[in-house]
Amino acid sequence: MKSYTKLLSIGFTLLLFVGCKTLPATPTGLVTEKAMVVSAREEASSIGSEILKKGGNAFDAMVATEMALVVAYPFAGNLGGGGFMVYRKADGTTGALDYREKAPLSATKDMYLDSLGNVIPNMSTVGATAVGVPGTVAGMIAVHEKFGKLSLKEILSPVIALAQDGIVVTEKQAERFKAYRDEILAVNGGATTFPIDAEPGDILKYSVLAKTLQRISDKGRDGFYKGETAKILSAFIQQNGGFVTEKDLEKYQAKWRTPVAFAYKDLRIISMSPPSSGGITLNQIFRMMEPYKVSKYGHNSEKEIQLFTEAARRAYADRNYYLGDPDFVTIPKEVLLSDVYLKKRMESFSFKKATKSSAIQEGNVQMAESMETTHYSIVDNEGNAVSVTTTLNGAYGSKLYSDELGFFLNNEMDDFSAKAGVPNMFGLIGAEANSIAPEKRMLSSMTPTLVEKDGKLWMVVGTPGGSTIITAVAQTILNAYEFDMSMQKAVDAPRFHHQWLPDVVMFEPLGFSDKLKDDLKSKGYNINEDRTPIIGKVNAIRVLPNGHLEGGADRRGDDTAVGF
Ligand code: DON
Repeated sequence: MKSYTKLLSIGFTLLLFVGCKTLPATPTGLVTEKAMVVSAREEASSIGSEILKKGGNAFDAMVATEMALVVAYPFAGNLGGGGFMVYRKADGTTGALDYREKAPLSATKDMYLDSLGNVIPNMSTVGATAVGVPGTVAGMIAVHEKFGKLSLKEILSPVIALAQDGIVVTEKQAERFKAYRDEILAVNGGATTFPIDAEPGDILKYSVLAKTLQRISDKGRDGFYKGETAKILSAFIQQNGGFVTEKDLEKYQAKWRTPVAFAYKDLRIISMSPPSSGGITLNQIFRMMEPYKVSKYGHNSEKEIQLFTEAARRAYADRNYYLGDPDFVTIPKEVLLSDVYLKKRMESFSFKKATKSSAIQEGNVQMAESMETTHYSIVDNEGNAVSVTTTLNGAYGSKLYSDELGFFLNNEMDDFSAKAGVPNMFGLIGAEANSIAPEKRMLSSMTPTLVEKDGKLWMVVGTPGGSTIITAVAQTILNAYEFDMSMQKAVDAPRFHHQWLPDVVMFEPLGFSDKLKDDLKSKGYNINEDRTPIIGKVNAIRVLPNGHLEGGADRRGDDTAVGF
C-alpha cells in the first residue's frame, strides 16, 4: 500500500511538471557538452566544430562553415549569393548582419518586362540576367573583422584543403546533380566543368575553387571584390548577358542591422529584420497566436492548423504589401507589430470556417519544392550563438557556373517584384515596396532566429524553403515550446504552410490524416491535393537545462550535427 501511495505521488508530481511544462523533453538528437555546429553537410559541420576546438569562437566557425558549404553543398552554399546572420553573444547582446545581394547599378524597375509590360519568362530566374551583386564574401569578412578571434588564414585553410582533397558525393547530392543536369548544361552553353555526372561515392575535387578561396584568404574582401576575381567574374556575367559590373562588385557592402525582437509568452524571439521579411512576419504570426491556448489544441491538430494558417494568411498579406529594403522604403513597422493592429487583424478569425484570401487572381503558380537555400546554427563553448541562412535562391542559383572561378551565381533578382501583382517563383506576390531599383536589396523570407527563455539562450534555428521558411521556423519553435518536443523531434515533425496567396494550405507527405484534411476542407480550406512537397530543412540547436546542447539536424537532407 505504501509503495502504491508513493507511486501515485510520483505520478502526480510528474503530471504537475508536465502541466507546467517545466519538464523538458528528453533529447533525441546529438547531445554535446560545450559546442555544436548543425549544417547541411557533415564536412561543413566538422570544419566549423574543428575551428571551435582550436579556440575559434562562433563567428570564426561561421566563416569556416559557410565557406565549407561552398565546397560540400554547392546546391546552396555559395560565394556567388548572399545571406543573413543573427547573433547573440554570451553576454546577451544581439545583432544581425545583412549580406543580401543587391540589384546592379544599371537595374531598372521594368528590366524584366517586355514592350507590352509583361514579365519576360525566365529572365529573372535563369542565367546571367538573373544575377544580383553577390554579398557572401563581404559578409564573411565583416563578421571576421568585427568578432573574429583566429586569423582568416587559419579559418580558411581547412576549407581550401577540403576543396583540394575533395568531398564524397552522397546519394542525395547525386540525385540533385541529375535533377538539374540539363538546366545547368543549357545555361552554360552545353558544357561545364562542374562535376554534374558524379555518382554516389565519387570523390569531387575543386581545384579552381580552391584558388578562388585562396585569393580571399590572402587578400580578404579585395580578393573577391577587386582584382583578378572581380575582373573575371564581371566579364563572365556580362558576356552571358548579365548586368553585374566591376564597379557593382567594388561598391558592395554588407550591413549590420538591428534584429527584430519580441516576446511570445515567456520566450524572447530574436530574428532577421528587413530586407528580410522573416522577423516581422514571424513576430506577427506569434503575436496573433499568443492569446490562444496552443498547447491544449495538440500538435498538428485541426485547431492548431487553423489558428496558425489564419495568422500566417494575415501576416503574409502584410509582408507582400509593406515590406522591402528599409534603405529604400519606409516600413510601417510600429503599426504592423502593435498589439492593437494585430488584435484587429484577428477579429475576423473564427474556428468555424476559413477566412478567404482576397480575390486577387492567383495565376498559374508553381509552388517550387524549395530546399535550395541552406541554414546552419552554431553555439560555441563560451555561449555565443549564430544563426545563419545563406542562399543562391534557386537550386544552383541561376545555374550559371564560372569554370574559371569554380562557383555558381545566384538568381536572387527574382526575389524582387518584377511587376506588381505577378507572383515570383515562390508564388509570392509583391508590391511597390519590393520593386527593383539600382543598389536595392530584394525582399527575403530568410529567418535566421535565436530564442531566449528566462533570459538565457534556449534555441538557435532556421531553414531553407523560400516562402515556407517563416512558417517552418515558427512551427519548429512551437513544437519545442508548446508541444514539448526534443530539438530533433521538433525539426523532424511534419509541417504545413500557408502564405495568403495562393490560398492553399500545403501539407507535407506524412503526418496529416485524410480525416483531418477533410474536416479542414469542410470548413472552407483549400488543400494541396496533387503534390505534397517537402517544407524546409531545419537545422537547430537547443540549450538543455544543464547547459548541454541538443542538435536538431533535419532528417529531410544530409544535415548533420557535430560538436564536443
Ligand atoms: O531570400 C529568400 O527568401 C529566397 N531567396 C530564399 C530561397 C530559398 O529558400 C530557396 N529554397 N529553399
